[in-house]
Amino acid sequence: MELLIEKIRKEGVVLSPAVLKVDSFLNHQIDPYLMHEIGKEFAERFSGCGITKILTIESSGIAPAVMAGLHLNVPVVFARKRKSLTLINDLITASVYSFTKEESSEISVSEKYLTDDDKVLIIDDFLANGQAALGLSEITSKSHATIAGIGIVIEKGFQGGGSLLRGQGFRVESLAVINSLENGIVSFEKPSEKLEELIR
Ligand code: G4P
Repeated sequence: MELLIEKIRKEGVVLSPAVLKVDSFLNHQIDPYLMHEIGKEFAERFSGCGITKILTIESSGIAPAVMAGLHLNVPVVFARKRKSLTLINDLITASVYSFTKEESSEISVSEKYLTDDDKVLIIDDFLANGQAALGLSEITSKSHATIAGIGIVIEKGFQGGGSLLRGQGFRVESLAVINSLENGIVSFEKPSEKLEELIR
């Protein structure tokens, strides 16, 4: 997605060979027009899949997920990372291990908002090791809903998440795939490389 790639080129800051800071439009300040276009792109890629619900995880997944929900005209549910005062009963939970933080946390969704006739599109801001998406897929499976696919804003292709999820048979659509952050430079995967990988 050219608009997103341009934005990362202009405003992304490489913090280390593994971490890209995009606080100016995704993780802290949010660019509503870009989010609107991101939502539209997800809606186009998953049109005709019969999506009835979008599932994401707080906090940075919410903005792109809401915009995708707007374009697909379906509700958006976000998994909570912390216990809520009001969300206490009938929760579906999954444990998510963060390699970055080296700790597991429990995420939860009320069973009221995911049912066996839902067809779910999982959306998240970053795909690194894939643990958040796996946790969301576990919650979806426990609710007996179907997973139509996973939409990611920025995939770090040099980490294991993409292969892990695609290896498990999930359809993963990433709007920007970063191949490397070495030497402070953001290198994107070219569409032709993706094609070669699919042919191989
Ligand atoms: P995983 O889910 O793919 O396994 O990722 P991991 O545990 O490594 O990531 C933990 C947190 O760090 C997640 O956000 C994830 O989105 C974010 N993250 C991972 N790599 C990058 C990166 O290169 N740049 C940025 N900006 N974020 C990254 P979180 O802690 O849940 O934060 P938030 O959603 O509340 O903002």
